[in-house]
Amino acid sequence: MTSRAQTILITGVTRRVGAHLAEHLLAAGHRVIGTYRHETDALHALIDRGLIALPLDLLERERLAAFARQVAGQTDHLDLIVHNASIWHRDEDVAANPELATAMYTVHVTSPIELTEHLQRALPARERDDGHADRQAVFITDAHIDEGEPDHIHYIASKAAIESSIRSLALRYAPHTRVNAIAPGLLMFHPEDDIEYRHHRLNRRLLPFEPGPGVVSQTVDYLMACPLINQAVIRLDTGRRWGN
Ligand SMILES: NC(=O)c1ccc[n+]([C@@H]2O[C@H](COP(=O)([O-])OP(=O)(O)OC[C@H]3O[C@@H](n4cnc5c(N)ncnc54)[C@H](OP(=O)(O)O)[C@@H]3O)[C@@H](O)[C@H]2O)c1
Repeated sequence: MTSRAQTILITGVTRRVGAHLAEHLLAAGHRVIGTYRHETDALHALIDRGLIALPLDLLERERLAAFARQVAGQTDHLDLIVHNASIWHRDEDVAANPELATAMYTVHVTSPIELTEHLQRALPARERDDGHADRQAVFITDAHIDEGEPDHIHYIASKAAIESSIRSLALRYAPHTRVNAIAPGLLMFHPEDDIEYRHHRLNRRLLPFEPGPGVVSQTVDYLMACPLINQAVIRLDTGRRWGN
């Protein structure tokens, strides 16, 4: 863990991974700005713990510059951006409503890139005398980029696009900003997932357990603590079962 309290922006803190990460970083003494579209009990609990909550809909690209200025109004320094917000549509839903494919690209690719750019303009990370990065951007992608997902081709393609972009962003932003990705496999089931589906998913793993969101928080801690890591993708998938 880094010793200095950091200022951190996380998109999509209303539930699950984003909510857990915000809670974890607040408990560690960091200043956390979290975005939401819908208010939830989890969001209110985070606000009670000190979260600075700002509304943001990543589908509204025209509002991203104003949002970045709003963040700059809350802090004079931003150490870490975690691009967590996501939508997960099946290909059959995309076939029925083709705009969902565009929406996934906007939420996973276009808006996070543009938001990172707007934040750099509104609240610049600066080149430091000691050569360390002043800021880090972390994109949450998906381990299935490597394996493939026959029912989620559009979702996986959009996650692959942003994972590939971390290398270009790191080139653009060096030396003031590091850019990394965390690519989880299964983290948490949804309550509606039935027992057969759970067995099927777990049996595809080398280590067949449901890890929960804490492994993402552990990985964010590591990326914050180790200043050398840049342009890296950390896969959280328990390894890959050969032939599956
Ligand atoms: N859970 C897993 O097993 C798993 C596996 C692989 C990868 N991941 C990745 O890990 C990250 C977190 O997963 P999760 O399961 O916690 O996701 P989730 O439950 O679907 O939550 C997604 C978050 O994104 C926000 N969001 C959705 N659309 C948005 C938009 N247009 N603008 C702004 N925010 C928006 C949601 O807020 P609102 O509800 O307010 O819209 C919510 O807070 C995602 O990037 C996901 O792709 C998760």
